[in-house]
Amino acid sequence: MDRYNKRSPLYLCYRMLHRSCRIVIEGETRILVPVKGHSSQVFYNPMMALNRDVNVAVLAAFLGDKDFTYLDALAATGIKGIRVGVEIGGFITLSDWNRRAVELMRENMRLNDLSNCRSVHADSRVLMDAERFDVVDLDPFGTPMPFLASAGNSVKGMLAVTATDTAPLCGAHLNSAIRTYAAHPQKNEYHRETGLRVLIGAIVRSLAVQGKAAIPVVSYAHRHFARTHLTIEKKVKSIDSVMKKIGYMAHCNNCNNHHPIPGLAPTLQKCIACGAPITLSGPLWLGQLHDRKLACEATAEAERRDLNDARKLLKLCAEEITTPMYHDYHKISKRMKISAPPITDVIKTLHEKGYCASRTHLSGTGIKTDADASTLEEAVLDLSR
Ligand SMILES: C[S@@+](CC[C@H](N)C(=O)[O-])C[C@H]1O[C@@H](n2cnc3c(N)ncnc32)[C@H](O)[C@@H]1O
Ligand SMILES: [Zn+2]
Repeated sequence: MDRYNKRSPLYLCYRMLHRSCRIVIEGETRILVPVKGHSSQVFYNPMMALNRDVNVAVLAAFLGDKDFTYLDALAATGIKGIRVGVEIGGFITLSDWNRRAVELMRENMRLNDLSNCRSVHADSRVLMDAERFDVVDLDPFGTPMPFLASAGNSVKGMLAVTATDTAPLCGAHLNSAIRTYAAHPQKNEYHRETGLRVLIGAIVRSLAVQGKAAIPVVSYAHRHFARTHLTIEKKVKSIDSVMKKIGYMAHCNNCNNHHPIPGLAPTLQKCIACGAPITLSGPLWLGQLHDRKLACEATAEAERRDLNDARKLLKLCAEEITTPMYHDYHKISKRMKISAPPITDVIKTLHEKGYCASRTHLSGTGIKTDADASTLEEAVLDLSR
């Protein structure tokens, strides 16, 4: 009997039990999710499939054949943790404080014959304060900040964090960013990367309080969410080293140049290109967003598993240079009243001039480079002649 066949007795039985549910397939996993528009109180968002695909690829690359424990701390239907259990392995714990969510995740464990998996009906902060896991995944409504102290306590190997409060992170809701992240993001052309780095900065600072160094190894922003995977080291030397990568981003509204200022106590500075006053964003993370080797391995995992959108995103991440922020070269072309040349030509020209340059996953018209704004403008102008 094919139990996923829509005419099969087991499927009909599920339909009887869960008139408000339907089965979706993500990766190699079948999940009962609430029917759209039904008043079920269990959360499921199909738009987050990419987040879960990337999660599978990154964890498969990070864990290899190792045995591991995984906590899906805010599990809802359980889809994220169950996918890890089905598609990679490990011992999975799913937790949620919503009773209906716990009932549904139990059905989902049965539906996937998952024996190495348990569900816990609890406030995940209490669970994380009591137990240790190799991998902890936080997938909250909005900001993950209320969960970070407990997650920092619980995690041993990798912390994976989603944030959907992109408006505060990117500087659109400034007071909310100040309250939630104790940071001041500026809303400018690279606000998506600013948001990602404000999030990572807050995670790194919070974990440092727990005596752990958090090192981002794959980080991205997509649609309405930001996501980062961080490896954990429990060494004072590593904590001091990651804290040195917290700082500020200086932006010049006069010449559009930007540059990092490391450290939590920046001295007053002017634009290093034109001397005009600068505005600061931060504190935020100024170090690597990705570990290139792991991002390449995760790209290969996504390819092997036919997770095509995840593969494309991870490939872009793997190819990004580490220089913080980017320039929108279409905006530069518009300001100079010229038509924009192909992005590959601009990047090639910068390479020929001896600079590092790459695309960014954050914008199709974004260029990351260690060249200053005027050098990039020259390159764009030369190509338009
Ligand atoms: C955005 S949903 C999780 C989505 C899920 N990971 C997925 O991929 O579909 C957030 C879940 O966290 C649960 N939640 C919120 N605060 C919680 C807490 N303190 N302890 C346990 N669960 C909590 C909510 O009930 C909700 O089911
Ligand atoms: Zn300037």
